[in-house]
Amino acid sequence: MNIKKFLTTELMAEAAGKHIIEIVKKKPDSLLCFAGGDTPLMTLNYLAEAAKQGEVDFGKCSFVSLDEWVGLGKETNGSCKQTLFDHFFDRIPNIDDSQICFFDGLAIDMDAECKRVDHFVAKHEGIDFMLLGIGMNGHIGFNEPGVRVDTYCHVIDLDPVTKKVSVKYFDEEMNVTRGISLGIQHITEAAEVMLMANGEKKADIVELTINTEPTADIPSTLVKNSKHAVLYIDDAAASKL
Ligand code: PGA
Repeated sequence: MNIKKFLTTELMAEAAGKHIIEIVKKKPDSLLCFAGGDTPLMTLNYLAEAAKQGEVDFGKCSFVSLDEWVGLGKETNGSCKQTLFDHFFDRIPNIDDSQICFFDGLAIDMDAECKRVDHFVAKHEGIDFMLLGIGMNGHIGFNEPGVRVDTYCHVIDLDPVTKKVSVKYFDEEMNVTRGISLGIQHITEAAEVMLMANGEKKADIVELTINTEPTADIPSTLVKNSKHAVLYIDDAAASKL
């Protein structure tokens, strides 16, 4: 896994944004996947501004969601869908809902939801680029510690650490217990995966991710099995290396 270290979070986000713009220029009809959560927000902001200035056109791209809290939809502040729409999709000119395939956390039939999203990815012949954060427990999307590595979309019980950390996203207690997510197979089969971490609180998991052989106990290590993986970290997240 390539590692790129940046002095500040801002410089990291700018470099990530520029890299993503290059990917879209090279392949305008890319299938892209951006994680929700706090980590990618600055990069998404960079991309939204660049799109507004006409520096990049996402008009031919497609987008697939990484994950969602089961039981939550776009109406809930802090859901993945709300985060991605507020910070990215609703700010980009030239994007139509038909280009976006998002997990519906409120769907009655979660198996059908998994199949629907699997089908969308398969129809596009895989994901061209994924921007992923690393959870405090090493989860990526809702590929929780101990996840099966041979899965595509799946529903999973959330790890205790994920449940504890989840409160930071919501205005009120949500008691989320399950997540729906793209699987490790999607990640390892993607043409390119960018794993991203910033801030001192991620320093331990970044160190573990880099220095541990791929294992389902720390899902972020499995990214090393991807075709082309790169880790973007700022100085604070790199402080234990
Ligand atoms: P964060 O979450 O980007 O909000 O730190 C990452 C994750 O838990 O996947």
